[in-house]
Amino acid sequence: MMPAMRAVPVRSGTCTAWVAYHAGSEQPVGLQLRPGAGLVMVTDINAGAMVTWGRRRTGAYGMAGRRLRVVLGTGESYKGFLYLRLILRAMLRAGLGRDAVVLSLGGGVVGDVAGLAAACYMRGVSIVQHPTTLLACVDSSMGGKVGINTGAFKNAVGCIHPPRYMEAQMGRVAALPVRQWRAGLAEAAKMAACLDRDFYCWLAVHAHDVARRAAPAIASMVARCAELKSYVTARDDVEAGARACLNLGHTIGHAVESGMNYMHWLHGEAVSLGIVLMANASHRLGLLPRADAAQIVRMLASLRLPVRRPLGVDAARLADALSADKKNRGESVCVVLLRGIGDCVAREVPRDAMLWAWAGAVHRST
Ligand SMILES: NC(=O)c1ccc[n+]([C@@H]2O[C@H](COP(=O)([O-])OP(=O)(O)OC[C@H]3O[C@@H](n4cnc5c(N)ncnc54)[C@H](O)[C@@H]3O)[C@@H](O)[C@H]2O)c1
Repeated sequence: MMPAMRAVPVRSGTCTAWVAYHAGSEQPVGLQLRPGAGLVMVTDINAGAMVTWGRRRTGAYGMAGRRLRVVLGTGESYKGFLYLRLILRAMLRAGLGRDAVVLSLGGGVVGDVAGLAAACYMRGVSIVQHPTTLLACVDSSMGGKVGINTGAFKNAVGCIHPPRYMEAQMGRVAALPVRQWRAGLAEAAKMAACLDRDFYCWLAVHAHDVARRAAPAIASMVARCAELKSYVTARDDVEAGARACLNLGHTIGHAVESGMNYMHWLHGEAVSLGIVLMANASHRLGLLPRADAAQIVRMLASLRLPVRRPLGVDAARLADALSADKKNRGESVCVVLLRGIGDCVAREVPRDAMLWAWAGAVHRST
């Protein structure tokens, strides 16, 4: 029988991640907040359906201070200045002090903008992450990267502000629409492909189980992702080196997202295509055996994730988006390449190499 909850100490700042396996497992709350501290819960209209549970949770944190809630709409466009300002103004108007806590109840969008609000408010207050999407459970709610987009510039404004606490209640993620679920699997596949060949093989064998949300498989997957994220962030709190490997597929992925104005494809879907192109580019550069590149494409396809480029994003648009990338350095861009499954390296490559990779990928209609 599996334990109902498992604590994974994510050593980035002071965060502890709790990964809960069943919706009913309400026991350990590894966090006590200062009594009387104010709290703002940031959520969106879908995740907001879990607000009662969120309130119970905050009760268990021992808080009795002023509480307010900011409910955003859904989608990437809510990760912008307007909504950052909305959260900050709500906190100021409510008179929250420096002991305030921001609680994010939602996916990566809510977590990123709420986290940035916490980082900015009175030069930084605590953020607690309660991820409600698979993507947020396996990746975005840990490690402390927070930020917003500005026009074509994805995650261009942000910082690293690790959560005090993260709790993933897998039972609450079960209602996620199928596309969102698969998008989360893309980030789990990314972690495996970059960091852990055994986990990758496990994922390839259990692709069907994780796709159909079999509880034991999901629990193992989320816990392993938390461990891997912990391993990386412990070595590199501020993304000066080791942590960069978690960007596999993201340069192209972000370019695809902004090339489509953050419509049509989800973040995880764009990352899936990015991983495919980076696997192929790694092979062409003589780093990755052909069989490994092919295996990565097969696995993503078996998870029903995009492995072909979309119509509607041409090379010129991609080039513009790459120029706007944070990792852009003049004519080159810093990307993560694979030397094998579970072994990656960050390298500067000419921007043109990305465009060749793009041109080499067959497109599909969307
Ligand atoms: N900070 C990081 O380290 C990091 C890492 C990876 C991705 N990200 C960011 O995360 C974002 C993507 O996150 P996401 O995929 O969670 O998207 P999201 O936050 O937009 O959520 C996806 C959708 O699922 C809905 N939803 C949330 N919880 C639900 C539930 N339990 N049941 C049903 N529907 C639910 C949301 O309302 C939304 O419509 C992107 O902006 C990406 O840049 C950040």
